[in-house]
Amino acid sequence: MTRSDSRKGAKPKRKYTAANADRHELYQLAVQNVESEIDFVDETFQAMRKRKAERLREDFCGTGNTSCEWVSRRKTNIAVGLDIDADPLAWGREHNFAKLKPAQRERVKLLERDVLDPGPGTGKMDIVLAMNFSYWLFMDRKTMRRYFERVRESLVSDGVFFLDHFGGYEAYQEQEEEREVEGGKFTYIWDQQKYNPISGRVDCAIHFKFKDGTEMRNAFTYSWRLWSLPEIREILEEAGFKKTTVYWEGVDDEEDEEGFAGGNGEFEATEEGTADAGYICYITAEK
Ligand SMILES: C[S@@+](CC[C@H](N)C(=O)[O-])C[C@H]1O[C@@H](n2cnc3c(N)ncnc32)[C@H](O)[C@@H]1O
Repeated sequence: MTRSDSRKGAKPKRKYTAANADRHELYQLAVQNVESEIDFVDETFQAMRKRKAERLREDFCGTGNTSCEWVSRRKTNIAVGLDIDADPLAWGREHNFAKLKPAQRERVKLLERDVLDPGPGTGKMDIVLAMNFSYWLFMDRKTMRRYFERVRESLVSDGVFFLDHFGGYEAYQEQEEEREVEGGKFTYIWDQQKYNPISGRVDCAIHFKFKDGTEMRNAFTYSWRLWSLPEIREILEEAGFKKTTVYWEGVDDEEDEEGFAGGNGEFEATEEGTADAGYICYITAEK
């Protein structure tokens, strides 16, 4: 028995099922690691610019979890999250804002906006983030370039745009990948349902499976283009960014039963990647 179990009024341990689970909560637990993402962004900006960033914009922010993490780091930090969908924004204001102190809450805004036309109050940023590959929702080069140009205009003169990227030969396969979350309380399933090599379009879905055998199918669905790293760097340069850098993940010391070693969570700037089955990396683009 743990100490909290013996406390009077301790809450029973939560059991997730398809009937009681909240898809936004599951997403945050399974997909995001906002602490390590903000560690990377904050440290990389400081190393690059020899100053601390303050104003951060989170594009495609969904529930604004990353924005909330940013304002909780320093009293001077300000965050603006943009998303086109009112539903995750409302969820984030209700649940993620509740975890912040009142003074922190005053320094974060979640706005229902299209990142292609961000509008007032979204400029003069030290940092703009486009994470979890959301910018891949733009399927053609012209729109992607227009988005990157809008981001560049929104940055201060030494501002930095941070993006993530995934690839590797498994990214092109129609397959499902499962991972247990929260010590096995539920299973996250990433489903690459259909890939069209002619358009580059991939249809993906996130499903969740629970210990009681129930499932939440298609909790989230995305259709996006599988862009390659050199394509994205070229478009960033065409949009006017002076310099782009790729940060590749180091390899874990331990291997699984099949002899594969995963990433170690440490990202280093390099021009030499490896032909991995699957990789996730970061890109920075300097104004
Ligand atoms: C893959 S989710 C990413 C959520 C979150 N950023 C994360 O890191 O987990 C993509 C989000 O982008 C939003 N979105 C799609 N097109 C958009 C647009 N043109 N402008 C703003 N948000 C958009 C969707 O509503 C959705 O919440």
